[in-house]
Amino acid sequence: MRVVSGIQPTGGLHLGNLLGAILRWVRMQEEAECLFFLADLHAITVDVDPAQLRSNVREMAAALIASGIDPARSTLFPQSAVPEHSELAWILQCTARVGWLNRMTQFKDKSGKNREGASVGLYTYPVLQAADILLYRATHVPVGEDQKQHIELARDIAIKFNTDYDTELFVPPDPFIGGGTAARVMSLRDGSSKMSKSDPSDMSRINLTDSDDAIAQKVRKAKTDPEPLPEDPAELAGRAEARNLVGIMAAVSGESEEQVLARFAGQGFGAFKPALADALVALLSPIRGRLDQLRADPDTTDQHLAAGAAKARQLGAPTLAEAQRALGLSA
Ligand code: TRP
Repeated sequence: MRVVSGIQPTGGLHLGNLLGAILRWVRMQEEAECLFFLADLHAITVDVDPAQLRSNVREMAAALIASGIDPARSTLFPQSAVPEHSELAWILQCTARVGWLNRMTQFKDKSGKNREGASVGLYTYPVLQAADILLYRATHVPVGEDQKQHIELARDIAIKFNTDYDTELFVPPDPFIGGGTAARVMSLRDGSSKMSKSDPSDMSRINLTDSDDAIAQKVRKAKTDPEPLPEDPAELAGRAEARNLVGIMAAVSGESEEQVLARFAGQGFGAFKPALADALVALLSPIRGRLDQLRADPDTTDQHLAAGAAKARQLGAPTLAEAQRALGLSA
């Protein structure tokens, strides 16, 4: 079992990123050999500010380490530091079919009405993602629901390449969705939209850098309803905000929603919110402390990334070489 996953270095990490992706990665380190990377080549498929991109990569890497990704155990690196990703992506662009990419819903969503003005990179984004995965012959790819279609595309590309060139080089990967925590953390102001760094209201999200007081205040002001909490999670249907807070509590405390509700059934949010704030502070305060230390010493993060990139190249280079051989590009 080998795990590969990437995250875009968007900056402004929040509770949604932590519970939805990062803490799952942290747990997977116990079970498998893991490679995690900052997807900076994917970030440039839309317009970027170069200085911002650089600082986001380092900041995101520091946040991952602060959250528990152990660079001594997992391979952590910036995607662009391993040129094999780009080289394999070109080869795989010649395996993927235009018809396959035309079905990708994320491109349709992201390009919107401006399809003609979108970058070609945004269109072939899923092929680079396939290269990220197939380069390391990963078996499992932990991703959110929104990435499932891209993992299936990587599977199709692996199978077609293997068939076309009569090889067993590529391992068709499996998406690995779910995994215990709240897969989707919603806005604290609107239970129907995802917690996001682009929401204009800072009260809608809990940032990794928020102070204990800010966390408590955001939880206190979080939108709720006047009903008491039920015993059965099914009864949270139609109560998006209540359900979100219960989901967050379950993810943070490592309980099921049933267990959370068993503790709070019949009580209102006046009792629930202070407990949630305490649980969040207990989770986030040590992460923030480690992040502050890493920020004060950027060389340490840079060294981890350089060492991770060297190791990733060692792991990936033989796959690229074999793909080149299979194609007749080298002897
Ligand atoms: N596209 C993914 C996202 O936006 C990030 C990503 C890039 C990725 N390459 C990957 C995830 C390879 C898993 C495997 O979330």
